[in-house]
Amino acid sequence: MNSGIPRLGINIDHVATLRQARGEEYPSVVDAAQVSLLNGADQITIHLREDRRHIQDYDVEAVRLVTKRFGKPLNLEMGVNPEIVEIAIASTPEWICIVPEKREEKTTEGGLDLLDDNNFIRIEDAVKKLKASIKDVKISLFLEAKMETLARAVELPIDAVEIHTGEFAKVFANGDDTSQFIEQYKSAHEFLKSHKVACHAGHGLTDESVVPLLESNIFEEYNIGHWIICQSLFKGLADTVKNLKATFDAHPIK
Ligand code: PXP
Repeated sequence: MNSGIPRLGINIDHVATLRQARGEEYPSVVDAAQVSLLNGADQITIHLREDRRHIQDYDVEAVRLVTKRFGKPLNLEMGVNPEIVEIAIASTPEWICIVPEKREEKTTEGGLDLLDDNNFIRIEDAVKKLKASIKDVKISLFLEAKMETLARAVELPIDAVEIHTGEFAKVFANGDDTSQFIEQYKSAHEFLKSHKVACHAGHGLTDESVVPLLESNIFEEYNIGHWIICQSLFKGLADTVKNLKATFDAHPIK
């Protein structure tokens, strides 16, 4: 892993959730991307879901223009639905994070199931198509930190695995012992490093639960969304991102 400050990806999906709740044109995801990048975000993350419950097709285009203007990466989260794959190809993000998607879920529950052969083949086909169609695109897979799943992941031409930290975040919020997660993440990181695959983290993280992860020096990138948008209601997006960035800056990777 490279030394330096871990990257902070700001997921702005829930700005669009608020907009879609009323069918208005505000709040603006373009403004949210801009404010995040002006205040220390290293990349913008958006999830174009099949059901379009928050981010819309036109948001992908609009946010892409902002990230390009700032010279920062766009990280597009997506399932492997063929229509979404075509949109990804047209929007040429720097990063794509492939996630599982169920229509009835509130949020992305759990990582990709790579142990199911049919699923593995669908993901493999999508990864190969995206790599062949978008110059220099980097691809991550959203996975649980389970060794048998990671072993299948490294068979694919991927650049990173984003570990699903949702369970860790819940246990942390309850004030319970999280050491078993940290150990599991360390083993995952060692394994991935030996295959030259980077280790990212995301889901359910807050300014507090991210700290033990930052201290563990495991992850080179974090994608955080829901907590940031909720905190912004009280503190504003600019200050929320700025403060989180300061926490990251205080924890360089050793
Ligand atoms: N990473 C991935 C792959 C996700 O699917 C999500 C949720 O969209 C996040 C990170 C951000 O999670 P949260 O909104 O809970 O911070």
